[in-house]
Amino acid sequence: MSIQNQQSKLTIGLFGFGVVGEGLYKVLAHTPTLNAEIKKVCIRHPEKQRAAPARLFTTDAGELLNDPAINVIVELIDDAQAAYHIVTTALSKGKAVVSANKKMIAKHLEELIALQQQHDVPFLYEAACCASIPVIRNLEEYYDNDLLQGISGIVNGSTNFILTRVFDEQQSFDSALQLAQAEGFAESDPSLDINGIDAVNKLSILLTHAYGIISRPHELIHTGIQSLNENDALFAREKGYEIKLVAQAHKLKNGYIAAFVLPQFTEKSNQLFSVKNEYNGVIIESSLADKQFFYGKGAGGFPTASAVLSDLSALRYCYRYEYKKLHYQEPSLITNDFHLKVCIRFRGLTQVPHERFDIITEWSSSKDKCHVTGIISFKELLKSDWWKQPGVSLILYPDGIIDSYVPLKEHTEDAAEFVEQFAG
Ligand code: HSE
Repeated sequence: MSIQNQQSKLTIGLFGFGVVGEGLYKVLAHTPTLNAEIKKVCIRHPEKQRAAPARLFTTDAGELLNDPAINVIVELIDDAQAAYHIVTTALSKGKAVVSANKKMIAKHLEELIALQQQHDVPFLYEAACCASIPVIRNLEEYYDNDLLQGISGIVNGSTNFILTRVFDEQQSFDSALQLAQAEGFAESDPSLDINGIDAVNKLSILLTHAYGIISRPHELIHTGIQSLNENDALFAREKGYEIKLVAQAHKLKNGYIAAFVLPQFTEKSNQLFSVKNEYNGVIIESSLADKQFFYGKGAGGFPTASAVLSDLSALRYCYRYEYKKLHYQEPSLITNDFHLKVCIRFRGLTQVPHERFDIITEWSSSKDKCHVTGIISFKELLKSDWWKQPGVSLILYPDGIIDSYVPLKEHTEDAAEFVEQFAG
């Protein structure tokens, strides 16, 4: 039985009963207007106590996937490989699917788009990016590619929570992480949050809906907050900045798209400055409307369940992503041909790769940490991951994307002076 019209009942097979699955179960119980019912829940650990009747649960995925009465599969597990199997099987069987699995979606989006078209079924995943913020549907429906100048956002709640607790409240990194885990914000493998992988997976999905770009997330430049420490926060504060982990994509003057995830100094005038704890924020820049700011909880059971609920509600009016921007005559393309203004902070002077900079504008050195600020080609970051090594932190400056950079003679002299004074 498929969803044919608004009168069709949504009979749901739910995979996963963790923070989000349980959140959805509770929320659905209070949303009778949706005409949706969870028929079965597939779980991996039947021994765990669950806040729902035992008859709902099974460990047999086939009970859900092969049940013709179930017309919607909601996939909320964190095992990306198993999620891929569930989602592709469900779509192939003509069931609508709602998922929050950003890792799996980012990795397989091209194939998942083809499957939706082949089987003429909707696949919605608003919860995969920024939890409660309806960013995917807005990018998909509202913002024309030609007008969209850029998106930049805090898209990972756990790292933002940790940055807030460590830098604003002087909590230790480990205890802030433990709290993020206890609150259900972090991935079950929290290194995905900390190292920026969750954020780059989300950026990859946003690129498809913003610009019609299918990207391989591991090929997009990204790092997380793993190398940031109190010294970096002090340095930022002295300059009136906050450090945020920002995922961004910007249209350059030549029409190509610059996309990456890096820590960034943010000024008070930037809306992301005040985004704290597990909240996310996304700034969308369009050539006519200037900036618009979306703000909301980016992690946690109920905020994520609210996006799943909204997708279920969208299924009632047969909504599906059309991926219109994928079919534009002149597709957008990613470029690595631009420069960044960055601050790179190192433990020791010997680590400073001054020769990689096009221009060095500021530097300092002390026993514990030295820093170099300057302009560097994005391609230098692609060449190797020297800037991700332990003890090295790279932080982007506000407005740090240098679109068309023309090297000047005096820049070379700056670098030479630096070498003479510090590294010579
Ligand atoms: N671990 C993710 C985060 C969960 O912290 O943002 C929401 O996608």
